[in-house]
Amino acid sequence: MTIKIDFKSHLENLKNQDQEVYNAVMGEIQRQENTLELIPSENVVTSAVMETQGSVLTNKYSEGYPGKRYYGGNQFIDKTETLAIDRAKKLFRAEHANVQPLSGAVMNIATYFGVLETGDTILGMDLGHGGHLTHGHPITHMAKVFNFVGYKTETDKDGIIDYDKLRAQAIECKPKLLLAGFSAYTKTLDWKKFKEIADEVGAMTMADVSHIGGLIAANVLENPLDHGFDFMTTTTHKTLRGPRGGLILCKEKYAKAIDKSVFPGLQGGPLEHVIAAKAVAFKEADSEEFVTYQKQVLKNAQGLAKGLMENGVTLVTNGTENHMCLLDLRPQDLKGKIVEEVLDEVGICTNKNAIPDDTASPLNPNGLRIGVPVITTRGLNETDCEVIGKLIADVINNIEDETTHKNVSEVVSEICKKYPLYTNE
Ligand SMILES: Cc1ncc(COP(=O)(O)O)c(C=O)c1O
Repeated sequence: MTIKIDFKSHLENLKNQDQEVYNAVMGEIQRQENTLELIPSENVVTSAVMETQGSVLTNKYSEGYPGKRYYGGNQFIDKTETLAIDRAKKLFRAEHANVQPLSGAVMNIATYFGVLETGDTILGMDLGHGGHLTHGHPITHMAKVFNFVGYKTETDKDGIIDYDKLRAQAIECKPKLLLAGFSAYTKTLDWKKFKEIADEVGAMTMADVSHIGGLIAANVLENPLDHGFDFMTTTTHKTLRGPRGGLILCKEKYAKAIDKSVFPGLQGGPLEHVIAAKAVAFKEADSEEFVTYQKQVLKNAQGLAKGLMENGVTLVTNGTENHMCLLDLRPQDLKGKIVEEVLDEVGICTNKNAIPDDTASPLNPNGLRIGVPVITTRGLNETDCEVIGKLIADVINNIEDETTHKNVSEVVSEICKKYPLYTNE
């Protein structure tokens, strides 16, 4: 998919009024065009999503919900928000949807506060094993309010979750909420087992599928709601390929509590231009084209993993079952920071990341996280991804060799030219 931008007229008003911001935006267009973007939490939205987000809807105040607003003049906003809600429910087979969360962090916080009391226990994936900051990192405000307990992955068994151990932990800590979901984990989760364990200990179930929301929407990965989960949260801007924001899906019996928690509990006026863009993205996701895209995402991640592993790079979990790969750089005696920097120089944008039980600083961890949503949107196939895996391996295996860097950089440029991202036509 290429995104149409008429560069002659693009941002003309901005250009005339504010050259500095204009130059920065144009610079970012060039960066995206000339870079292989492998940050697994990013994507590129369609022109329709971008247009909607840049529309006059940004001018409107609409505190409240469709039909129950604290401001007048919301007849059109009610339409777009209702479309977003209905489309989200259909897409994910959910009983209720709240489309207002401003971000992924906010959607999780709103869910916790909506159904839990201060001091309640949340059992979620350990941060050092792939969980997200909002799943209980001590640095967050939530960690002062709720009692977060972390479960780990089995590093000596390809990173699987030992569900017997998880069950024992749940019996011991008696969580009110069992939370499944991750930011850096490459295996599929067994939603059915999570639900069984939660039922046994009387916990509610929540899946934070932010990373794999698009794969679930396209039914290429299983949907936790089909297994009876109470809550499912997802960011809308990752694999789901919508505008930046959050989405909460839940059973009808929690609908009121969740809506109240988002507004007025946590947020003020919703970003209705973003909500309308979410509606557009949900419609796009409910299509054959999107299913084809997500199938290609899975194939491309396999290609990337193959190219890396066949060229001596170690992957946590020995491969991937989703859209991302987590590289363990210890065998090459390297750290994430330097690899991220050198790859950046050759035009490959990646994300240093901790590996399970990492003893190094989070600012310079032992791993690197990469993924394929952006390059798949751009049209690359699994063979291209295998080549990219090899290029990354070449850099890792020759981190100080400038000739290698130059060669890799040339191939990256060729690939970017072959698959243009933004075009005039
Ligand atoms: C699993 C998970 N949950 C929540 C979030 C938070 O999303 P946001 O950055 O929009 O606050 C992320 C973002 O990376 C995530 O990976």
